[in-house]
Amino acid sequence: MTNLLELKGISKTFPGVKALSNVDLDLRAGEILGLCGENGAGKSTLMKILTGIYKADPGGEIRLNGERVEIANPNHARSLGLSIIHQELNIIPDLTVAQNLYIGRPGSHRAGYISDRQMVKDAAALFERLNMQIDPTAMCRDLPVARLQMVEIARALSYDSRVLVMDEPTAPLTTTETESLFELMRRFITPETGLIFITHRMPELTEMTDRIAVLRDGQYIGTVGTAETPMREVIKMMVGREVPADARPTTAPLSDEPMLTVEHLSTKKAVHDVSFEVRKGEIFGFAGLVGAGRTEVARALSGADPHTEGRVVVNGKEVNIRNASAGVKAGIGYLSEDRKQFGLLLDKDISFNTALASMDRFSTATVINSKKIRSVAQEYVKKLRTRTPGVDAEIRSLSGGNQQKVVVAKWLVRDSDVLIFDEPTRGIDVGAKDEIYTLLEELAAQGKAIIVISSELPEVLRLANRIAVMAHGRIIGVLDNEDATQENIMELATVGQDEANGAVA
Ligand SMILES: Nc1ncnc2c1ncn2[C@@H]1O[C@H](COP(=O)(O)OP(=O)(O)OP(=O)(O)O)[C@@H](O)[C@H]1O
Ligand SMILES: [Mg+2]
Repeated sequence: MTNLLELKGISKTFPGVKALSNVDLDLRAGEILGLCGENGAGKSTLMKILTGIYKADPGGEIRLNGERVEIANPNHARSLGLSIIHQELNIIPDLTVAQNLYIGRPGSHRAGYISDRQMVKDAAALFERLNMQIDPTAMCRDLPVARLQMVEIARALSYDSRVLVMDEPTAPLTTTETESLFELMRRFITPETGLIFITHRMPELTEMTDRIAVLRDGQYIGTVGTAETPMREVIKMMVGREVPADARPTTAPLSDEPMLTVEHLSTKKAVHDVSFEVRKGEIFGFAGLVGAGRTEVARALSGADPHTEGRVVVNGKEVNIRNASAGVKAGIGYLSEDRKQFGLLLDKDISFNTALASMDRFSTATVINSKKIRSVAQEYVKKLRTRTPGVDAEIRSLSGGNQQKVVVAKWLVRDSDVLIFDEPTRGIDVGAKDEIYTLLEELAAQGKAIIVISSELPEVLRLANRIAVMAHGRIIGVLDNEDATQENIMELATVGQDEANGAVA
């Protein structure tokens, strides 16, 4: 039997980086193939070659149903039935959902022109078919990341693809949304189609894939059957060593003294009367479903959004946070969930971005100490194992996970009393996650208050001394780590959500 898709001897060189060397990969018809590897291993690059975004170095070949193809560009790839959902969102915020779906699409409508009304109609029909509740006329800038991801997915599914590549589609989604995405993925599979699924979340590979292919440092390591291979084997293939399994915090608060006290915090829409306290040296977790209000609490606390009510005390001093720079001054640092929008300047280098939140520490009124910035940036590249030719590399040339490491470095350097990390390890591989956890614990041990918002429950359980569970803008309950399990957290989150829904209805 011929494979649906075969890649043979694919190499790719970027200036200063050999991203892929002689990589093979095959996809069978009717299967979901997991593709995994550490940050910078070459997963996205390989898939961009397959879908016509990058040209491979000469020498390799791609076969589709046994026939050799030369893929000229992304439109050509789509016409061959190869589509991709990218790791970074490709949505234009100032257009509507429907416009994002259809504008610039060749050959989809006669004469290349399509009216807004027709687009809205087509989009509505598409969402209906995919069972997604999205308003085609909504402006994309008003939608949360998880929704935009669904738009992106709908767009890829709207092409009649034989091979669909999903590059970390679940990263911005939480449990419920991930479940409905999985449902769509299963429905996509027929005896004629195949799907390549990239994720850093190991349980998703177990649940969804038939086989798993592993890349390491641009090399092809191998492909294994999911059912007959224990996950720790796959992880070992990825990182070349054993990685510790699910763990719990290794640090405890230093004292009962609060570093951060929040009383009756409310915003216009999403946050209702939220009160909590984080002690010196404590890691405080926030769990809940998407839309529960966790990010909104962080944004209000850090000054990114205004709040209508509430008292905030940092290290014994009441602070008045009117905007983001007031937040940073008051000692509250916020690592946001969307690195593209809030976290990094993509056309600046690693050094600059690492120092971005701490320029006052690296400069006098007239001089910026770029030597010091470089050496600090280098220190964090080493600590976090950021894969890059050097600290002068532009952020946009880094792999997604390595960009995220720079965001983390930026806030580690800032050294605020209170640090809020919103999905700090999104898109970060299993090995590097552990290094970030250790760094967060080091910060806590220095007496800071750390807040971690995460949709990955094992991560919250690994890090947080106490866990607040939110639903509909309120804290439903706070659990001590000893008493917390994935099950009781989920129960609080969903019951809270249901009750609030009931109350609204
Ligand atoms: N346009 C580019 N210019 C220069 N280097 C690049 C470019 N795109 C990727 N690279 C480099 O190629 C290597 C592989 O990157 P790639 O994005 O494929 O990794 P990945 O496996 O998808 O990682 P992640 O899990 O972090 O998304 C990295 O070292 C990256 O810095
Ligand atoms: Mg990638």
